Amino acid sequence: MHLLAIESSCDDTSAAVLRDGEILSNCIANQTAHAEYGGVVPEVASRAHQMNIIPVVDLALKKAGVQKEDLDAIAFTRGPGLLGSLLVGVSFTKAFAMSLDIPMIEVNHMNAHVLAHFAEDPKPAFPFLCLTVSGGHTQIVLVRDYLDMEVIGTTIDDAAGEAFDKTGKILGLPYPAGPHIDRLAKEGQPVFPFTEPRIEGLDFSFSGLKTSILYYLQKRVKENPDFVKENMADICASVQSRIISILLNKLVKAAEQTGIKEIAIAGGVSANSGLRRALQEKGKELGWNTYIPAFQYCTDNAGMIAVAGYRKYLAGEFVGQDVTAEARLKMT
Ligand code: KG4
Ligand code: ZN
Repeated sequence: MHLLAIESSCDDTSAAVLRDGEILSNCIANQTAHAEYGGVVPEVASRAHQMNIIPVVDLALKKAGVQKEDLDAIAFTRGPGLLGSLLVGVSFTKAFAMSLDIPMIEVNHMNAHVLAHFAEDPKPAFPFLCLTVSGGHTQIVLVRDYLDMEVIGTTIDDAAGEAFDKTGKILGLPYPAGPHIDRLAKEGQPVFPFTEPRIEGLDFSFSGLKTSILYYLQKRVKENPDFVKENMADICASVQSRIISILLNKLVKAAEQTGIKEIAIAGGVSANSGLRRALQEKGKELGWNTYIPAFQYCTDNAGMIAVAGYRKYLAGEFVGQDVTAEARLKMT
């Protein structure tokens, strides 16, 4: 069984080919045009998707050694994401499926981040908890089965990735700032006192952290205009360590409440080396089995859409030509 998968929810155009559950290729065209604007510009993103989608699909098929006539189905990201970006993937999928006379499978991008864990070994056992942390979402997901998930904690304001990116903007780092903060934090110590918000239950809040960093730095820059430059590594280490402690404290709470010890992380922020290390240490301390995807399956990629699409294919869940992109698609 051959499946083509398409991901175009934000600023990466990606295509993957899967054979009987195994990923044969996972190709990504990154968009660099957004860096100069300090964030993703939706109009620029959708135009770049239009230019990239056919070459990326061609490359994915070529790398997999699969002809388009061999495909049995095509899976695509229906949402959540930027509407203009999603539309490119959805329109391409409809045309491709119609011309090849094969069925279409809609995939929820957030479900797919969770199912990225089934791209390679080791795979978590059900039920497990997945902390999904990306540029747009921060969720603790209770995963009962491939297609049975429930969000039990979520952010009430910014996402964890946004906390990295917005802090990076304050510090003058390029967008997206997460990987830069990760790199700089390795050379610093978490010596600055950025506060942890008090939020009840399993929900998260990151907007207070951003404000606390901004005010703290404004005060110190008044005393010393070079404060940020001179303390960049320590500031990054402090920000990163606080974001990690906010995430892990809630994850510990969720594990206690549910009694689950199979614990996974997913999404772009799960590429963060400090978070990966902290999760492993916490897992050792609390007797968890921890699961961290390979880097290529952390940030947006069509491989994860292929894994999710394959599960829906096996369950016989297809959609018709009347399907539409859904920017605010809820997790099912
Ligand atoms: O999952 P993703 O690729 O796209 C969305 O669906 O949002 O996540 C992108 C986010 C960005 O906020 C980026 O700064 C963050 O993931 N990110 C990181 C790292 N790599 C990517 N954050 C912290 N450390 C990293 N190494
Ligand atoms: Zn994502």
